[in-house]
Amino acid sequence: MQAPVLPDTAPFSSEQRGWLNGYLAGLFNAGNLASARPSAPGAAAANTLPVPTRSLRILYASQSGNAESIAFALGDRLKGASAGGGHVWVPEIAAMDTGSGIDWGKESHVLFVTSTWGDGEMPDNGKAFWNWLQALDGQVFSHLTFSVLGLGDRNYARFCAAAVQLDARLDRLGAKRLLALETLDTDFETPATDWQNQLSRILVAGEVSTPVLEAKTDVPAGWTKANPFPAPLLENRRLNGKNSAKDTRHLAFSLAGSGMTYRSGDALGVWPVNHFELVDSLVIACNAHGGETVVLPDGQIISFRAALLAKLDLFKPQKNLLQALQECGPAQGDRRRLRELLSEEGEAERETLLTNSDVLDLLRAFPTAKLDPQSLVGKLRKITPRLYSISSSPLAHPHEVHLTVGVQRTHVNGRVRYGAASSFLASRVPLGLPVNVYVQPSSHFHPPVDPSVDLIMVGPGTGIAPFRAFLQERAASGGTGRNWLFFGDQSQESDFLYREEILEFRGKGVLSELDLAFSRDQAEKIYVQTRMMERAKDVWSWIEGGAVFCVCGDAKRMAKDVDAALAQIACSVGGLSPEAAEAYVGQMAKDHRYLRDVY
Ligand SMILES: Cc1cc2nc3c(=O)[nH]c(=O)nc-3n(C[C@H](O)[C@H](O)[C@H](O)COP(=O)(O)OP(=O)(O)OC[C@H]3O[C@@H](n4cnc5c(N)ncnc54)[C@H](O)[C@@H]3O)c2cc1C
Ligand SMILES: NC(=O)c1ccc[n+]([C@@H]2O[C@H](COP(=O)([O-])OP(=O)(O)OC[C@H]3O[C@@H](n4cnc5c(N)ncnc54)[C@H](OP(=O)(O)O)[C@@H]3O)[C@@H](O)[C@H]2O)c1
Ligand SMILES: Cc1cc2nc3c(=O)[nH]c(=O)nc-3n(C[C@H](O)[C@H](O)[C@H](O)COP(=O)(O)O)c2cc1C
Repeated sequence: MQAPVLPDTAPFSSEQRGWLNGYLAGLFNAGNLASARPSAPGAAAANTLPVPTRSLRILYASQSGNAESIAFALGDRLKGASAGGGHVWVPEIAAMDTGSGIDWGKESHVLFVTSTWGDGEMPDNGKAFWNWLQALDGQVFSHLTFSVLGLGDRNYARFCAAAVQLDARLDRLGAKRLLALETLDTDFETPATDWQNQLSRILVAGEVSTPVLEAKTDVPAGWTKANPFPAPLLENRRLNGKNSAKDTRHLAFSLAGSGMTYRSGDALGVWPVNHFELVDSLVIACNAHGGETVVLPDGQIISFRAALLAKLDLFKPQKNLLQALQECGPAQGDRRRLRELLSEEGEAERETLLTNSDVLDLLRAFPTAKLDPQSLVGKLRKITPRLYSISSSPLAHPHEVHLTVGVQRTHVNGRVRYGAASSFLASRVPLGLPVNVYVQPSSHFHPPVDPSVDLIMVGPGTGIAPFRAFLQERAASGGTGRNWLFFGDQSQESDFLYREEILEFRGKGVLSELDLAFSRDQAEKIYVQTRMMERAKDVWSWIEGGAVFCVCGDAKRMAKDVDAALAQIACSVGGLSPEAAEAYVGQMAKDHRYLRDVY
C-alpha cells in the first residue's frame, strides 16, 4: 500500500510536514515497529500418545489485558513441555479471582501475573482472591512453589504494589519462590519474554542452563500493539458547548481494508506523537537542529526530532537525567545544585523536583548543562500507547471505530502541559491522515450476552464512551432487556455529551431510564451517585432482578464513590449489614454482574 502524503494545506511548517511525511511512510512499513512477542507453543510438541501430566496453574489479574496476554503466552509456551519423570505440563490459565475455588491441596506449582491499578491496588479480577488470601493464616501453602510477575508504571507512587504484596503474602503463607519477584515498567515486552524464558528453563526438566523455548521475533498476525494499523481519521468533533471548561472530542477512524474487528467494551490503543512545540523547545535546549542522527535503545537509527516526536516519553524524567546533566560540564552554579540534588540528603528535594517537572523543565532549570542529542535520548523512557474505550458498536459502524477523548491540559510552572495522546488526537492529526492504532480486547467489559438481561450503566464524563457503544449494540440486537443510563458532567448546557443521541435512545425506548447529574449547575454538587441514591429502590429492584451493573470513567474519585453508593443501597434498601453488602457486591463482581472500566 502507498503511504499518503501530507497535503500542502495541512497546518504544519514545511519541516514538520517533511517529517510527518517520513513518519507516514514509516507507518506503511510494517517492519518498523516489530518487536519480540512470544506466540509459540511449547518446545516439546504435544505427544500423540497419552502421557502423564502435571498441572501448572497460571493466574492473572489484569485490567486492560497486558498481564492477561502474558499469562496466555506463558501457557502457550509451557503447554506439553516436559515436566520430568515422563510427565508433561498442562497449564491451566484463569483470572486470579477463580483462585479461591481451587483445591490448593492438590496443586504444586502456581505462576502469577498481575498489574497494579488505582492507587496501588489489585486489578478488579484479582481483588476477591486477594481478600481471600489475606484471610488465610499459617503455612498453608508450604507445599506450593510460585513466582510472581508484576506489571506497573513507575509514574505511579506505588509501583507494582499489587505484585509486591502478593509475593510477600504467598511467602508468609509458606510457599517457596521458583523465581524472585519481577516487577516491570511500561516497556515490559522484552523483559516479560526474558521472565518466561527463565521460568521455562527452570520448569522444563533437564534444561537448566540452555533456553528451551526461544522468543519468536516475527510480528504476530494481524494488527497489534507492535504492529499497529494506520487508521485514517474521519471525524473530529468537539462535544462540549463554547462556554465549557472542557474539551471532549468525538473522533472517528476508518478501519476499511484492515480486517480489524472489535467488540463493544474493547479499548483502542493509540500511539501518540508528542507536541511539536515541546519537541522544538527540547531541540533548542540541546543546542541542536533536530536532524542529528541518534540510536535508540533497540538499535533503531533515526533523527533526533523523530525520536522526540514519536519514540520517547517527554513527561516524567528520572534521576538518570539529572546525573547526565551533571556529567556534561555545567557551570559552577548548576554543578553545585545538581550535586546537592544527587546527594543522599537531597533525596526529598530531588523527588519533588522530578515529580513536578517534565524533561524540558529540567533542561531549562540547568541551562549551562548542554546535553547532546544522543545523551538525552539515552536517558528517556520509551513512549507508550494510550488506551481509549471504544464508543461505537461494530454492529452500527462495521468499518469504523469511534472514541470519546477528554483533552488533557494542565498549567504548571507558567507552561501549558498537553497530554501527549489526547492533544495529538484533538489538534495534531489532519482529517484523512492515519493514526497508529490497535484493538486491546477486554476480557470482561461487554454488554450482557443475553439480550434479555437488564443493564445499568454509570458513565459520567468520558465514561459515557463504552455505553454509547453498548446502547448502539442493544438497539441493533433488539433484545428485551431494559437499559438505564446514569450520566453526568459539569453543566447541562455545555457538557451533555452526545445529547441528541442519548435523547433519541430515550425517545425510542432503547433507554428505559435516564438519570442526569450536572455537577455545577447549582450550588451543591450533584453527582451520578446522588441520582443513584435518589432512585435507590429501583436500582435495588433491577439488581435483585438480575441486572448487570457497569461503571466507566474516573477511577480515583467517581468509581470509588459509586462503589460505596452501591453497597449503601444494598444496606438501606436490601436490608443487608455493611459486611453482607460488601460480600453481595463482591459476589456480583465474581458473577460478572458488576463490571468496571475505570482509569
Ligand atoms: C482502559 C482505559 C480506557 C480509557 N478510556 C478513555 C476514554 O474513553 N476517554 C478518555 O479521554 N480517556 C480514556 N482513558 C485515559 C487515556 O488512556 C489517557 O490516560 C488520557 O487521555 C491521558 O493521556 P495523554 O497522553 O493525553 O496524557 P499524558 O501525556 O499521559 O499526561 C497525563 C496527564 O499529565 C499531565 N501532564 C503532562 N505532562 C505534564 C508535565 N510535564 N507536568 C505535569 N503534568 C503533565 C497532562 O496534562 C495530563 O493531565 C482510558 C484509560 C484506560 C486505561
Ligand atoms: N483524579 C483527578 O483529580 C482527576 C480530575 C479530573 C479529571 N481526571 C481524569 O480525567 C479523566 C476523566 O475526566 P472526564 O472529563 O471524563 O470526567 P470527570 O473529570 O470524571 O468529570 C465528570 C463528572 O464527574 C463529576 N465528579 C467529580 N468527582 C466525582 C465523584 N467523586 N463522584 C462522581 N462524580 C464526580 C465531575 O464533577 P466536578 O468536575 O464538578 O467535580 C463531572 O461532573 C480521567 O482520565 C480522570 O482520571 C482526574
Ligand atoms: C488508572 C491507572 C492506575 C494505575 N495505577 C498504577 C499503580 O498504582 N502502580 C503501578 O505500578 N502501575 C499503575 N498503573 C499502570 C498499570 O499497572 C500498567 O499500565 C499495566 O501494564 C497494566 O496492565 P494490565 O493491562 O494487565 O492491567 C495504572 C494504570 C492506570 C491506567
